[in-house]
Amino acid sequence: MAPSKQLHIGMSLAPTWLSGDAWRRADSGVEGLFSSGFYLDIARRAEAAKIDFAFLPDSLFLHTGLLEGGSGFASLDPSMLLASIAHGTSKIGLLSTASTTFYPPYIVARQIQSLNWISNGRAGWNIVTALDGNGNFGLSEMPSPEERYARAAEFTEVVKRLWESFPREALSLDRDGGRFADAGLVRPIDHEGPFFSVKGPLNLPNFGKAPVPLVQAGASEAGRDFAASVADAIFASTPDKTAALDLRKDLRSRAEGHGRKGDDIRVLPGLSLYLASSRAEAQELFAETNARVSRARSLGTVREMTGLDLSDWPENRQVKASDLPPPPEKVRSRTHSGLLRRMIERDEPTVADLLRRPEVIGSAHWLVIGTPGDAVDAIRDWAHSGAIDGFVGFPGGSMDAVSLFLSETVPALTEQGLFRKDYSGSTFFDHLTENGC
Ligand SMILES: Cc1cc2nc3c(=O)[nH]c(=O)nc-3n(C[C@H](O)[C@H](O)[C@H](O)COP(=O)(O)O)c2cc1C
Repeated sequence: MAPSKQLHIGMSLAPTWLSGDAWRRADSGVEGLFSSGFYLDIARRAEAAKIDFAFLPDSLFLHTGLLEGGSGFASLDPSMLLASIAHGTSKIGLLSTASTTFYPPYIVARQIQSLNWISNGRAGWNIVTALDGNGNFGLSEMPSPEERYARAAEFTEVVKRLWESFPREALSLDRDGGRFADAGLVRPIDHEGPFFSVKGPLNLPNFGKAPVPLVQAGASEAGRDFAASVADAIFASTPDKTAALDLRKDLRSRAEGHGRKGDDIRVLPGLSLYLASSRAEAQELFAETNARVSRARSLGTVREMTGLDLSDWPENRQVKASDLPPPPEKVRSRTHSGLLRRMIERDEPTVADLLRRPEVIGSAHWLVIGTPGDAVDAIRDWAHSGAIDGFVGFPGGSMDAVSLFLSETVPALTEQGLFRKDYSGSTFFDHLTENGC
């Protein structure tokens, strides 16, 4: 299984370079957190590096327990922010996140298609079934994963049909003849399903020119199957190369099972990058940034994800596979719980080591702590092994890490023939399908 000829690279605009204690640095620019200029600046630099897309994950709740020490997931609405970024950029794709558990499909179809018009065909939709936030939407608890994915499948079908319900060709704009549109081409969808009843049509024409790329996040069995049936890419958590290889192989064969080609689904893991000009400085950056991650919080994460209570365990005791109780029935994300169990079974780390792992303190993303050269080596290795089709960069620890990613790491990938020199198209879909990959 060969890797794609060239990588697809996304730049996360979720300000991971402010996470942990990084926001406290004098040059962090944290005051701009709720302004658009802060993000536009990074998006422009990402565009100068010819990155495929700028990406905003999203959540619809505030974690007040974290707010004393950091942003606690406080953020601007992603589609509105990307609409403002659209005005200051011209090529880079704009990937927004919208939850299929909380929003109605008509609203999401309209939001993403509006972003597509505003950006001249650069919108993408990251489909999430969400982790939390039910209390803000009249739900006493999160629906089961099965229900969330069944709803997501119907939701996505409705959104796609709404986008087709008002084709661009229906717009006549014939001044002489006095005909604005050929209304006969605009049709209701009359959808009646287990979760949604939607008449349509959408009150906005399709921008057309190219499809809106669909990205999915969530890699349980149900998540993979859903992604393989409909998504152009999966935003994945793969803390090690074997996890990425397994996921990519599995998704490609599932896509074929759905009558698609393996190449139709691209695996783009999150890549957390603590970069500095020397390895020692990068290690220091990582340690400083995460120095105040509370032990209680990490212990809580392990307990929630595995059912294992390590509160009274000594730091140097090994956590063995045989210590793991059966998986808890309810977890926020089966993807993340599965990755943590897998790491414990494989590495049997000490308590101290376990509490520092990305599966516990981060989002289980692939992690590079080192120089831009180290990052390039790791990316080349994973790409040549056929583990990835690209990745989404999450620079961590400092603004310098952002610069080292965009101004050194990505150009070095270009020099090595792993990434484009320039955009060849103008839509997000063009970037994702360049070189037929
Ligand atoms: C890498 C990754 C990124 C995710 N990003 C988001 C996000 O931005 N917003 C959100 O509400 N949920 C997000 N989720 C949650 C998923 O959409 C999904 O609800 C959750 O992982 C449960 O599905 P699973 O059982 O397949 O893991 C993410 C999940 C993963 C694995």
